[in-house]
Amino acid sequence: MNLTFRQLSVFQAVARHLSYTQAAQELHLSQPAVSMQVKQLEENLGLPLFEQLGKKIYLTDAGREFYNYSQEISRLLDEAEEIIETLKGIRRGKLAVSVASTANYFATRLLADFYRQHDGITISLDVTNRRGLLDQLNNNETDLVIMGRPPTDLDLITEPFMDNPLVVIAPPDHPLTKEKNISISRLQQETFVVRESGSGTRIAMERFFSQQGVTLTTGMEMTSNEAIKQAVAAGLGLGIVSIHTLELELDTKRLAVLDAQSFPILRHWYVVHRKGKRLSPVAVAFKEYVLKQGDNLIPALRTL
Ligand code: PGA
Repeated sequence: MNLTFRQLSVFQAVARHLSYTQAAQELHLSQPAVSMQVKQLEENLGLPLFEQLGKKIYLTDAGREFYNYSQEISRLLDEAEEIIETLKGIRRGKLAVSVASTANYFATRLLADFYRQHDGITISLDVTNRRGLLDQLNNNETDLVIMGRPPTDLDLITEPFMDNPLVVIAPPDHPLTKEKNISISRLQQETFVVRESGSGTRIAMERFFSQQGVTLTTGMEMTSNEAIKQAVAAGLGLGIVSIHTLELELDTKRLAVLDAQSFPILRHWYVVHRKGKRLSPVAVAFKEYVLKQGDNLIPALRTL
């Protein structure tokens, strides 16, 4: 078969109107040009597609069959065009992602994997605490945010994609590492090193203990998970961090996770953007990627 897209669209117009004249008007062609295209198509196919009875034309059986297929071909072409346009957008695209400092432990891995699949895109990654992320969302300074427990008082689209368990950590030689089912009141006797007040981990920790009716003794305050882990390893107190920050320390046994009652504190990671924000194709693709792949990429960290 040696047909052309031009023949296909002329045929569809004639079939829709059942009139050469109206098809010619719709396509801004002369009527002989339309008849010629149809004639060539019929020659190509080896069967008549229309028949004339009196002044009217009708589709033949072959014409009806071919009309159905031609519509399917057009639909597939439209779909292909859409996908190509999206890919063009992604290929040249820029992506600005901001992640909670705690999420950075896995977000970089997600971004690296996405980047490898979309050669040529430009990614900027900002790592900050929860308060910083809320400022960026407020000021429309970023495409997508990965954070824990989004606020309800901003107009946001928020979708959870992975659990975020918070655990109590101690140095491996701490006496509590040998105990099971440690009570909250026993934890209360310990000093805790804590994250800064703009941190989501800190807020979750405070909410948890106040729900238990307990006030913790807090020692030093630190602005990063790394600093908390170093301080705990150095014996400055216990800490509460996301399990996602602990991959290396658990592998090398530099820190231990305590078996404490009501722990882990179960939180979730969300991918978030402003409602009504026009996401670029690359941002849409990354969001879909996170929602689809987020949980699979980090299998080892999902459970304790
Ligand atoms: P953060 O983590 O403690 O690094 O701000 C964010 C969160 O858990 O909400």
